[in-house]
Amino acid sequence: MTTLGTPLSPSATRVMLLGSGELGKEVLIALQRLGVETIAVDRYENAPGQQVAHHARTITMSDPAQLRALIEAEKPQLVVPEIEAIATPMLQQLEDAGVVRVIPTARAARLTMDREGIRRLAAETLGVPTSPYKFCDSLAELQAAIDDGIGYPCIVKPVMSSSGKGQSKIDGAADVQKAWDYAMAGGRVSHGRVIVEGFIDFDYEITLLTVRALDGTGAVQTQFCEPIGHVQVSGDYVESWQPHPMAPAALQKAQQIAQAVTADLGGQGLFGVELFVKGDQVWFSEVSPRPHDTGMVTMATQWQNEFELHARAILGLPVDTTLKSPGASAVVYGGVDATGIVFDGVADALALPGVDLRLFGKPESFSKRRMGVALAHAADIDTARRNAKEAASRVKPRQA
Ligand SMILES: Nc1ncnc2c1ncn2[C@@H]1O[C@H](COP(=O)(O)OP(=O)(O)O)[C@@H](O)[C@H]1O
Ligand SMILES: [Mg+2]
Repeated sequence: MTTLGTPLSPSATRVMLLGSGELGKEVLIALQRLGVETIAVDRYENAPGQQVAHHARTITMSDPAQLRALIEAEKPQLVVPEIEAIATPMLQQLEDAGVVRVIPTARAARLTMDREGIRRLAAETLGVPTSPYKFCDSLAELQAAIDDGIGYPCIVKPVMSSSGKGQSKIDGAADVQKAWDYAMAGGRVSHGRVIVEGFIDFDYEITLLTVRALDGTGAVQTQFCEPIGHVQVSGDYVESWQPHPMAPAALQKAQQIAQAVTADLGGQGLFGVELFVKGDQVWFSEVSPRPHDTGMVTMATQWQNEFELHARAILGLPVDTTLKSPGASAVVYGGVDATGIVFDGVADALALPGVDLRLFGKPESFSKRRMGVALAHAADIDTARRNAKEAASRVKPRQA
């Protein structure tokens, strides 16, 4: 699709975002800048992306009937999943019937919403190195998997979950029951399946943003951004920076793994490939077939940030993954449980050198909800990290 139309006219290029959080909001802004007509869908009203789109729709995206009815009514050319909790078999049906194109593909959305789908593909079909793992449906199976080879320490995660929900580390036999119960409470669908993974004692972890976009001849070309380093607390991202320095051999392996996984998932768009690195050893962890939360740093570091890269790639346009400056991001949490909160200290935060801020505009704050992100560019990563963290700490959310 290289011809773009005029929004709100019969020639419009129409794109529907399924999920309109902070990542979807930036994709929508990038699409708006190209004159694309946008439809922002979420499960609640006034989601961040709905505030910047032509049309806002609120449905239960995991309900296949609601999803089908909306797509058939709105007739977008492209459907862009921004979250995992979507009725992906229905997307597959609609894609197979030629009703709509799913980004990057319906199969990629389906495989990556379930840890089992993507892990078996990567480890068993593609032969990519991963942590040792086993899938378990009961506490007894979990204990047996640990005793029969996974060992301690290990990590248990519900197969359907994100942002560290229901995930915990097991250091010894005394933790197993607690980890199982926690996983059962934290999964998206309560069908009780978990993955148990051997703990990888990595030196650092990265997100390798990988873009599949058309080159001048109409062929798909794979391009990589500079590696993004990040810190996760309880499975949730708190801080990221780019570029993360890597030994050439490790970077080469990381790119090979990202190339193999994204080529199999196919389609066009940006992927966030999560990898663990120890010396020259690299393990695949998981992949988002869409912009990645740790990649918000690219709003400070790249000529085309990850959202612009995604928007361009899905529309069939060429991309440029070049770094502009080293930089960092630090999350601003809600800190309070309240609606319509206010933010003090924004001017103090922005007074720091090279600092920028995104406040997502979420109608409701929770103590641990991501409400904004501080961004910083600087001559080196250490300075950028310090300034981003300081800026995030100067922003003080409170009840209005
Ligand atoms: N096998 C493992 N070994 C060591 N750390 C892990 C392992 N699996 C997950 N982690 C840590 O937990 C974080 C979140 O795990 P991940 O599988 O990415 O879950 P989510 O889908 O919630 O992001 C990772 O970024 C990493 O820091
Ligand atoms: Mg992850």
